[in-house]
Amino acid sequence: MTNTPAFNLGAWRTLDNTTGGNILRIPTQHLVTHAAIFGMTGSGKSGLVTVVIEEALSAGVPTIIIDVKGDLPNLLLTLPSFDPGLLAPWVEASGEKDPVANLELATKRSKERKQALAFAGIGETDLQKFCDTTSIRVITPGATAGESLHVLSALERRSSRWDTDTESARNALSAAVSLVLRLLGRDPDPAKSREHVLLSVLAERRLVAGQNADIGSLMQDLTNPPMAQIGALSVNSFLKKRERSNLAAALNNLLASPTFCSWRRGASLDIADWVAPKNGRTQAVIVSVAHLDEEERALVLGVLLEEILSWVRGLPGSERLKALIVFDEVYGFLPPHPANPPTKRPIVALMKQARAFGVGIVVATQNPMDLDYRALSNAGIWCIGRLQTDADRARVLDGLAGVSQKGEESEADLARNVQRLAPRWFIIKDAHEASVGPILLQPRQTISLMRGPMTRNEILRARQWRVSLEGVELPANSVLRPAVVVEIPESIRKTKVFGFGDGDSEG
Ligand SMILES: Nc1ncnc2c1ncn2[C@@H]1O[C@H](COP(=O)(O)OP(=O)(O)O)[C@@H](O)[C@H]1O
Ligand SMILES: [Mg+2]
Repeated sequence: MTNTPAFNLGAWRTLDNTTGGNILRIPTQHLVTHAAIFGMTGSGKSGLVTVVIEEALSAGVPTIIIDVKGDLPNLLLTLPSFDPGLLAPWVEASGEKDPVANLELATKRSKERKQALAFAGIGETDLQKFCDTTSIRVITPGATAGESLHVLSALERRSSRWDTDTESARNALSAAVSLVLRLLGRDPDPAKSREHVLLSVLAERRLVAGQNADIGSLMQDLTNPPMAQIGALSVNSFLKKRERSNLAAALNNLLASPTFCSWRRGASLDIADWVAPKNGRTQAVIVSVAHLDEEERALVLGVLLEEILSWVRGLPGSERLKALIVFDEVYGFLPPHPANPPTKRPIVALMKQARAFGVGIVVATQNPMDLDYRALSNAGIWCIGRLQTDADRARVLDGLAGVSQKGEESEADLARNVQRLAPRWFIIKDAHEASVGPILLQPRQTISLMRGPMTRNEILRARQWRVSLEGVELPANSVLRPAVVVEIPESIRKTKVFGFGDGDSEG
């Protein structure tokens, strides 16, 4: 078997159900051209997303994960062995805290997990290795369950980008100004709000001159504008003195408010630092926004995605997968024209540009009607799970037709198959592999415990546990788990490898 790094996604079957195997491997570099995952709630999207993340980390590919629903912090729960004692604190037998019943249930679950993972060729040493070689961080902007994030760092901490890539620095600034205006309860839309324009001009003037544009200095600039004109208008006709004073006063109230502090504390939005290996560990950074309201989510993620885009544009070109950006439940953040939330521009740009830099994007959604298919036409890998309505199915198959080779499969056949899909089954199509038409994929068991959205206390507890685990320093040369380690007789194990043309005709 080849040693080309590959993602072990799960078991596969041909659409006519005549051939299959336990392991479907997709070469890692196929992810450079992005993946899109569709399926109704409960179809197994987050499970598949988790598998992709686990495989990326195992291959040494750092991953940034955007979590809207709150279940991806489950990645913290990657236990190093099948010891039921490790599992017991994370299962609940009867709703009550009964240690004996919990241990019983944990023993049962542990056995099931062991079996399911063995099916995918993953054993206890792999669990240990996964724990030893990865670092899982959870960041919760504006809240304290996870690490805090200085969401306004594009504004308040000057980046050297202003000297090298003004356009992306300006986009990141614009997103940060939108967030400030939203926190003030004002219009955050850069295209409509004069306050947005004025604040951006004032901030940019400082940043270009090598200073920070902290809120305090912007308040001074609003009261005593350092320039006479904005565009063709005098500052006073652009925004009256009284309105500027109002805005300055609102900024002052914001500065004084304790909740605002939580937005300006903690790590800078420094993507290069996030993805750099630490103590030999490959980094996963989960940015969870489940606790925020809809508009806050869009604004915070707009800020984050602009930063990611700007980081990507500063990378050297690469054909190898160097990092993965994963967005579970992208519904509402990448809508079709004319809707334009702050997340849309950077996602579209990432899907168009990131491949040249070796950065893959994975998006998952339960609502295929609400998506910009022009952006999705950049995705080379499509995974279609169970979908509820005819309209949803038709929409996805239409989109898929755009990336598929012509004439290799009948659309009616595919539609029938999509309709029949059981939960946790997907139809997968990899545009890199024209000779392999769409086939069925059952994502493998996740290494992480999937226990659904975690409460604030559970996140805190899981982070503590994970930090104690990661506290042990690794030797610098510790190796990562190769994609497949277990040899199982061919009679029971069949491995399909995309992209190697080794004639997968086992049946
Ligand atoms: N790959 C997997 N490994 C283990 N459990 C899974 C996997 N995929 C799904 N599940 C189980 O099925 C449930 C629903 O799947 P999920 O991925 O959360 O669906 P979706 O994200 O589409 O709503 C999960 O809570 C989990 O218990
Ligand atoms: Mg989900």
